[in-house]
Amino acid sequence: MDNTSTYLFNFKGYNFERSLVKMEIIENVDNFEIRNDDVFIITYPKSGTIWTQQILSLIYFEGHRNRTENIKTVDRAPFFEYNVHDLDFIKMPSPRIFASHLPYYLVPKGLKNKKAKILYIYRNPKDILTSFFHFSNLMVLFEASDSIENFMEKFLEGKVLGSLWFDHIRGWYEHRHDFNILFMSYEDMKKDLRGSVLKICHFLEKDLSAEDVDAVVKQAAFQNMKSDSRANYEDIIQNEIGTRNSEGKFLRKGTIGDWKNHFTVEQSERFDRIFLKNMKDIPLKFVWDMNED
Ligand code: PPS
Repeated sequence: MDNTSTYLFNFKGYNFERSLVKMEIIENVDNFEIRNDDVFIITYPKSGTIWTQQILSLIYFEGHRNRTENIKTVDRAPFFEYNVHDLDFIKMPSPRIFASHLPYYLVPKGLKNKKAKILYIYRNPKDILTSFFHFSNLMVLFEASDSIENFMEKFLEGKVLGSLWFDHIRGWYEHRHDFNILFMSYEDMKKDLRGSVLKICHFLEKDLSAEDVDAVVKQAAFQNMKSDSRANYEDIIQNEIGTRNSEGKFLRKGTIGDWKNHFTVEQSERFDRIFLKNMKDIPLKFVWDMNED
């Protein structure tokens, strides 16, 4: 891809959002010192990133959990390459939590020491595409598409932030043995949030009381998070980044299977064929419908 797009900036074969990416972080990523207790939430866009930011903020920070502190999740678990508030990562106290959409080959090399932990959250790509379509139409810094068909072309060609979904998940999956990584799906979190929080706590070696786990689960539930100004990103997208209208929300539907309200049968079948071809040797489980096990 050339670098003349208004919206995207390609670096080492991967598309970043042009105005938001911090090139000084990306260009110096190899020198970024990883601490043993760092945690990275890694996702392809629209897979549950800010949800996991909220879950980890609730797990790690008592003041977040009991609501005595009013710090936004973007400042507790900042995006690594999109450091919107220009936090000084070097001075951040441990444990540091980062969120990132980076492909496996662009993350700090120190993550390969396997001490720092990575949570890779994945989601069925039809719902990702649907969420991404709405988000791109909402945000001024993303290219709008007049139809799902039009956006699907870009998505399937990787001409979006995050590049090609298939490359992102395959790259991380095939290189999983290089990292201390836990794969979790958006759909598992949706169907069993408590079980997922416990699984995350186990992976992160965080021992919370049953009441604390309840508090995490309650505040990470879609409706509660939607009304939580620390976690819903409304202020950031409206006042700091910019939206094309005031109705759209970052926390839009938060469901499994909304793609069915957007895809035609032909589009769905075409997507299935491409998915099968690209994913046949990746044994991760995908859930496409709320009623599916
Ligand atoms: S981004 O822009 O890449 O950071 O977006 P990301 O946070 O990865 O994904 C946004 C979608 O996640 C949904 N979301 C949730 N779903 C269920 N429960 C909770 N608590 C939750 N929080 C965020 C959000 O609504 C977006 O999905 P859609 O399908 O658009 O609703």
